[in-house]
Amino acid sequence: MLDFLSDETRRNPFPSYDQLRSFAPVLHEPRSDLWLLLDYEGVKRALNDAEAFSSVVSPPTARTSQWLVFSDPPRHTKLRALIMRAFTPKAVASLEPRIRELSRELLDQTIERGEMDLVTDFSVPLPLRVIAELLGAPVADQPRFRRWSDVIMALSHTVSGGDAAARVQEAFRVVTDEMRAYLEELIEQRRAVPRDDLLTRLVEAEVDGERLTEEEILGFFQLLLVAGHETTTNLISNAILCFIEHPDQLARLRSTPDLLPSAIEEVLRYRSPVQAMWRMTRRDISVHDQVIPAGKMVMPIIGSANRDPQRFRDADRFDITRDPNPHIAFGHGIHFCIGAPLARLEARISLSTFLERVRGFTLASDAPWEPREAIHVHGPARLPIRFEP
Ligand code: HEM
Repeated sequence: MLDFLSDETRRNPFPSYDQLRSFAPVLHEPRSDLWLLLDYEGVKRALNDAEAFSSVVSPPTARTSQWLVFSDPPRHTKLRALIMRAFTPKAVASLEPRIRELSRELLDQTIERGEMDLVTDFSVPLPLRVIAELLGAPVADQPRFRRWSDVIMALSHTVSGGDAAARVQEAFRVVTDEMRAYLEELIEQRRAVPRDDLLTRLVEAEVDGERLTEEEILGFFQLLLVAGHETTTNLISNAILCFIEHPDQLARLRSTPDLLPSAIEEVLRYRSPVQAMWRMTRRDISVHDQVIPAGKMVMPIIGSANRDPQRFRDADRFDITRDPNPHIAFGHGIHFCIGAPLARLEARISLSTFLERVRGFTLASDAPWEPREAIHVHGPARLPIRFEP
């Protein structure tokens, strides 16, 4: 069975996925009583079939129960419509100059040094600043955001249970209280003096003629903070990692820079930043002739679906010209990622700025790279790289 907690598996879960998928695309893990879905069709179905697979996976008392991503229709439909207005193509495109400016600034700070930790110096601060600015939080508060986001991400460990899980739950409780106090102040400020930011929009928004509660605003704020930067951080880091691992593909990209959008789609498929999501069965459900009983936790493994040889030719080959590339790295159907246009834009601008400024780069250490701790996301926690003249 998959050992999600070992560094080796988190660095490279793909051979295990292959093995399990060819054994059976639907697998029951008895220790955690968790059902794994591993093939493209099964994963895609679970992500979109809200009638059979509910997204309400946290108990009503849990502090994530207000999150859009963990809600079902009809509530989900209303909340989603509300937030979609902030992520229209026009609103996202208007961020381009600012993203370019931030990318340049971050590189200016490190290029002279001759080396950098790509994650800490570039792929973390860029999306973090973008989402903080979008939400309307003061720049000075960003270190707090990073800390909060780390604690929220660590929640995915709680699936393994035990002492570590209890500690993480406690840390999350403390962080939620801190965030609530912080937000109450910001919300009050926005009520007094509205601004052109996401927080003002949330404060003024109405669903069925009712304002959002502070708890709902907090839920949005937490979700956007984590969804808005952790995932994009991993996309940027994974892209650089893929380029280092596949120099022929990088050379191809350098000679044809127009391939960048297609290269980004291939990174999303090949090293999907979000490897898995959660669902709960509403009734007995048959998938590939296996019956998953009602009320069970299901883990659709997106990272495995995106390497399914039934759907992708040469699934384990990193090919920046892959076309078509119907990956489901942003999910599928009613919960499809709201931030996908923003994530794609951030990746395109940051990577093109990086490749223009940095002619050559290699890993600065022979040691295997250290993976992020959270089990359902995939990417390095650190990636020391050295620039070459
Ligand atoms: C939903 C992945 C970036 C906001 C999702 C889902 C996936 C995903 C797989 C579907 C979850 C499900 O079906 O249960 C990613 C990846 C990203 C990324 C791989 C970057 C590479 C972003 C950004 C934002 C964002 C930048 C916001 C600024 C959201 C929200 C949802 C979501 C709000 C919930 C949508 C819903 O439940 O209707 N994302 N995401 N994501 N994402 Fe992203």
